[in-house]
Amino acid sequence: MITTAQRLEGIGEYYFSQKLREIDELNKQGKQVINLGIGSPDLPPHPDVIAVLQQEVAKPNVHAYQSYKGSPVLRKAMSDWYKTWYQADVNPDTEILPLIGSKEGIMHICMTYLNSGDRALVPNPGYPTYRSAVKLAGGECLDYELKEENKWEPDFAQLEELIARSSHEGAVVKLMWVNYPQMPTGQLPSVELYKKLVDFGRKHRILICHDNPYSFILNEHPASLLSIDGAKEVVIELNSLSKSHNMAGWRVGLLCGAAARIDEVLRFKSNMDSGMFLPLQLAAAKALGLPATWYGEVNEVYKKRRTKAFELLDLLQCRYDVSQAGMFVWARIPDNYETGYALSDQVLYNTGVFITPGGIFGSAGNQYIRVSLCSPIEKFAESIHRINIFFAQVKDQQQYV
Ligand SMILES: Cc1ncc(COP(=O)(O)O)c(C=O)c1O
Repeated sequence: MITTAQRLEGIGEYYFSQKLREIDELNKQGKQVINLGIGSPDLPPHPDVIAVLQQEVAKPNVHAYQSYKGSPVLRKAMSDWYKTWYQADVNPDTEILPLIGSKEGIMHICMTYLNSGDRALVPNPGYPTYRSAVKLAGGECLDYELKEENKWEPDFAQLEELIARSSHEGAVVKLMWVNYPQMPTGQLPSVELYKKLVDFGRKHRILICHDNPYSFILNEHPASLLSIDGAKEVVIELNSLSKSHNMAGWRVGLLCGAAARIDEVLRFKSNMDSGMFLPLQLAAAKALGLPATWYGEVNEVYKKRRTKAFELLDLLQCRYDVSQAGMFVWARIPDNYETGYALSDQVLYNTGVFITPGGIFGSAGNQYIRVSLCSPIEKFAESIHRINIFFAQVKDQQQYV
């Protein structure tokens, strides 16, 4: 009998991996499901980025293993990108580590810092990978709840309680996962919040791990936690080209922070992979140097889609904040549904439109749903049409009861 390792206990298959199978089944039955769930940009990268990849890949001398620390060209481009857009200084030689997407970085960080039984603060609602990576690394998750009435910011009094309780129980709180613009709520950060996070990390000697992949989407003021004075003492930051440059499938991300942190994570990561394909790194460097017009054009498309997403959510009688950032719209469901799962299932099975139930991001998301903006505007129009027809039928039936 072959058994899996204990570390997999309590770790399920990723929600979207399961759901996409179910959607495939529905499609085989002829449903033609419109997927407004997953956040994978459908638009292509800039043509100049593709051109660099094509030119580089044709060269004979670019196919070998690459440095574990990434190409100096890419690290310089990453450092310049941080300076230009976030006014943050990160040394390209010592304070940046290119990653194969930021998702792997979440695991590397947990494996680098958590001993068995160590605790990590994770946002609820939040990106589910923080939770699974902490558990896979042998750590324990301490949920901190984000609430709408608190602008989806951490409640620092609750955080203090969690720290006090852990210390009473003899456990060490080593990491805190934070992510602004926040996924799934779309909440933007304030400078005050960033300062409070740095102070909190300092006070309790907790490594604040900021995950920052959404700062360029529907947001006029991209910000980095590393731009706060003294942040490097306690902060490391993940970033990604997946969303900002429409390069999710390329798998290019980065970790930045104090040189000592980068070396620590590299000790783990260099045992996991053997660097990134050079043409891809050089094309990514090109992407990072794109002018402001690139972000402007991408955001024009998302803005139009967002207007349609609002229309769809109005039909479902959901409530939402119009100022949210990122490539999703997060919305509160009406009271006549028990949870976002119920609303999501009703819409999927009756109209063939898939919307993510907020509960997959944690219990605090149960009364919400999340609509992705990664589908063409025609798909939104078709979704609105289907949902309109369904509700008209429901109304008709109710009249004849
Ligand atoms: C909050 C958050 N962090 C990280 C990631 C992973 O991005 P990447 O493609 O860089 O691995 C995602 C992807 O959906 C995300 O939503």
